[in-house]
Amino acid sequence: MARPTPIDMAHHPHLSGLFAPQREEVDVRGLEIVGELPDDLHGSYLRNGPNPRFDPIGSYVYPIDGDGMVHRVELTDGTARYTNRFVRTPNVLAEEKAGRALWSGLTDPYFPPAEEVGPDLANTIRELPDINVIRHGGRLLALAEAAPPYALGSDLETLGRETFDGALPVGLTAHPKVDPRTGEMVSFCYVLDAPYLTWSVIGADGTVTRGPTPVDGADRPLMIHDMALTERYVVLILAPFVFELGRIFTGASPLDWQPELGVRIALIPRDGSAIQWHTTDAFWVWHTANAFDLPDGSVAVDYVEWQYPGGLVDSADPNPSALRRAVIGRNGITRTTLHERNIEFPRVDDRRLTETHRVVATVGESGATELPPGDADALFWFDVAAGTESVWLGGSLAPGEPAYLPSSNGGPGYWGTIATDRNDLTSWFLVFPAEDPASGPLTRVRLPIRVPAGLHGAWIPAS
Ligand SMILES: [Fe+2]
Repeated sequence: MARPTPIDMAHHPHLSGLFAPQREEVDVRGLEIVGELPDDLHGSYLRNGPNPRFDPIGSYVYPIDGDGMVHRVELTDGTARYTNRFVRTPNVLAEEKAGRALWSGLTDPYFPPAEEVGPDLANTIRELPDINVIRHGGRLLALAEAAPPYALGSDLETLGRETFDGALPVGLTAHPKVDPRTGEMVSFCYVLDAPYLTWSVIGADGTVTRGPTPVDGADRPLMIHDMALTERYVVLILAPFVFELGRIFTGASPLDWQPELGVRIALIPRDGSAIQWHTTDAFWVWHTANAFDLPDGSVAVDYVEWQYPGGLVDSADPNPSALRRAVIGRNGITRTTLHERNIEFPRVDDRRLTETHRVVATVGESGATELPPGDADALFWFDVAAGTESVWLGGSLAPGEPAYLPSSNGGPGYWGTIATDRNDLTSWFLVFPAEDPASGPLTRVRLPIRVPAGLHGAWIPAS
């Protein structure tokens, strides 16, 4: 197996421009603040994203490939500080020793031999804790897709692979959900062999209270990126994106879109009783916003629906997205459109998870100008109760996923995100008032280095 050749980064849409990797690691206090920091906002905004440590070889499949880099904007007493660090997996450490990329991308069948990476790492694939970052049970975790997360220290330094004292050896989803009432973190994890899918629970104190529990009825290996949680149920949407590993040896993706299979939704009672399965026609979902129980015993889940996994499936078919609501219950699945916009990264106030919510914040395209793949120029806030939206047009600023930033004194709170200017590649942390986000950012914190377009983040209130 020949070592793959370097990728032409300058011409790869997800390795250049707003997406170009950032290799500098800094820790800078006293950042320039345009406007004023609200005096009821104390804490840190953290965000993870794919950021290859060295120029990639072979293939680069956004958003799955790339090493993790965690960025943190800390707001305290009217001042702002920025810190960023690579998530240093054994792969990143081995590549730093070699001074170049040793592992290829996910769709390239190259597994570095012992002569290149030593016996422990020989014939392994790259670990990718580059999708999300969350704090729970005393741990700060950089999360991968269906793999063990990495624990980070207070300076964002990498502490190591986290298996929860061996109780969760296979890992977590990148999108576990924390129940604000119980403090429990509920997760799932898919694997390529039977039982294909398990779920688990980590108590508020960080101890695993339910180890990997098979999801009875899962019958094949599927990519499932996100989940939802209600007071009673874990909600898993199984779209027909099937792992067929043999395909990589023909140069194809290991994932095959098989819409004829339709979508299956599992309602998994959190009390461990029998799982309910429901089916509907095929669609794709990366992300849910939230879910909640309805009085008649059914479940509502709000999510961003796509026709198919665009970017990962070759198709010329249109692939608009929309914020939709699926109601799942005795009468099957009913899907309705809440808002039609080309959007992603839906978020609610995390304190509303498992309960009804009013506002879903998303990032997306205004339609005003033609944007490169994966780029965005607007934030949208949908009031799902009133059926109205608030829009902020970023102009040259490309915003990332918004997160809700609660007020420290019970006020209406804020939304925050990192945005990068397409014209001069400066990056900013923006704070929007939750009561009127369309009025635009009331605070702009100038970040000392460019933050590449990335994935998911979290707000961690000051303790
Ligand atoms: Fe995600």
